[in-house]
Amino acid sequence: MKKISNIVFSAFAFAAVGCASTTDTADAPLKDVFDGKFMIGSAVNAHQIAGHDSLALDIVKKHFNTIVAENVMKSGEIHPLKDAYNWAPADSFVNFGCDNGMFVVGHCLVWHSQLAPWFPLDADGKYVCADTLRCRMRDHIHAVVGRYKGKVKGWDVVNEAIVEDGSYRKSPFYEILGEEFIPLAFEYAHEADPDAELYINDYGMNVAGRRDTYVKIVNDLKSRGLRIDGIGMQAHIGMDYPDLAEFEESLQAFASTGCKVMITELDMSALPTVSRSANVADMVDMKQVVDPYPDGLPAEVSDEWNARMLDFMRLLLRNSDNISRVNVWGVEDGCSWKNNFPVRGRTDYPLFFGRDYQMKPFLGTLSAELAKK
Ligand code: XIL
Repeated sequence: MKKISNIVFSAFAFAAVGCASTTDTADAPLKDVFDGKFMIGSAVNAHQIAGHDSLALDIVKKHFNTIVAENVMKSGEIHPLKDAYNWAPADSFVNFGCDNGMFVVGHCLVWHSQLAPWFPLDADGKYVCADTLRCRMRDHIHAVVGRYKGKVKGWDVVNEAIVEDGSYRKSPFYEILGEEFIPLAFEYAHEADPDAELYINDYGMNVAGRRDTYVKIVNDLKSRGLRIDGIGMQAHIGMDYPDLAEFEESLQAFASTGCKVMITELDMSALPTVSRSANVADMVDMKQVVDPYPDGLPAEVSDEWNARMLDFMRLLLRNSDNISRVNVWGVEDGCSWKNNFPVRGRTDYPLFFGRDYQMKPFLGTLSAELAKK
């Protein structure tokens, strides 16, 4: 168990008022706070990696020991045309992580969203046959995983394959290859880098139908002798969902497969819930909803947000034996995708650091709790 010394937490921080506080928040690196529990990290974007937001990079370097690519490794970005890869942004991301001694995670190899348009289609715009898709998947996975062999330590191999009722999402991969697309993707990824950890990842993992199917899928992969190291629970959560007991039940069901569990895309919207989906296609018309806090989060909402995030993190800490990694989906509130999803142009407050780059109060409380143990 780690020791934290010389940290002074003010009564102000404990009071857990607004996320924009600049006074007296705990200064200990989060990677030290959670040392011995799980790795802690964030998604980083191309803008940050290119050095256009040095304050965000300072946070990443100081606080995090793992990073994941927010967009630059998705097939539509890294492999936009059949014969053209766009390596530069992903190379910079990987180099940044390696130069700073981080556990670098690649996201993601097989996903219906941000999928390169050419990937499942023939010259006439129709789905390719199963053989062709298998070859394309293998080539893509070998090229991407192979390029970062030894540097990227873990891959989200398959993302968002299952819907709430536990059935397979009708993605191009499923429509063309059926359920076999999942074992194939894991087989190809392992061929390309036998040392890399391999994960399956989805949102809404608290939902029983999805939970049960993932447990089956993981057990099936294992029974075939295929490598799978982890189950990623994205955790795009809100103030009124999910039920934390249900989330914990899934976490424990996943752990019972023998896989590590990882919280891969944590954010908690502070805004009214308009959709529980994290499917990027499920956009809601802006007119249907309000954007209640464009100028800052009122203290009482901030307190509520901090209290719920504290509960969520305590849940993770009491299950930390089964959790290897917690990644927040973005560095500071201003860069979060939640400002534009599921409604464009809102002002949300979902991350660990506010727009002023200050750590939110719940982390001071957690640090103090952990330091006492
Ligand atoms: C999001 C990114 O954060 C946005 O920048 C992008 O416009 C859309 O995708 N589930 C995932 C992530 O697995 O890749 C998604 O990331 C959020 C939902």
